[in-house]
Amino acid sequence: MPVTSRIEEVRNEASEAAQASPTVDDLMNKIVNLLHHRMLKYNWVGFYMLEPEQPPILALGAFHGAMTPHTRIPLNEGICGAAASSGQTVVVDDVKKDPRYLACSLETKSEIVVPIFVRGKVVGELDIDSHFPAAFGAEDQQLVEHCAMLVGKKMESAGH
Ligand code: SME
Repeated sequence: MPVTSRIEEVRNEASEAAQASPTVDDLMNKIVNLLHHRMLKYNWVGFYMLEPEQPPILALGAFHGAMTPHTRIPLNEGICGAAASSGQTVVVDDVKKDPRYLACSLETKSEIVVPIFVRGKVVGELDIDSHFPAAFGAEDQQLVEHCAMLVGKKMESAGH
């Protein structure tokens, strides 16, 4: 199947999951499974959510892939910290060349981290690692941003 139609299909499945999921946790679990199973270069898929402590910290939530040593990440560390503190998507084509990168697996070559917003504020993020260099192009970015948006909207409607 061409990559574009697969991305379109997965995007629609994520939207359907958002409609069907009774809770935010259920939707997060469905999204990590969907992206991990259907997008062949997405080798680790997980959520980090901001804990309301001082200083704030990102705590590992639903994920699919090998266990990571980074279960709690401060906002001034890692690609994850950079995405959450800037409120911007971060795409890293070659993690070896990015001094911010916190290694999760020796196999990881590229990474994308997309912030999740609730009423305009960052509440967490969706993080994906690939064993392939430069795995995340513009269409992948749109797909991951769509999934992060669905979770943000679900949290809003659940009163977060
Ligand atoms: N690589 C991330 C850490 C999380 S693991 O990839 C799962 C970072 O640099 O923040």
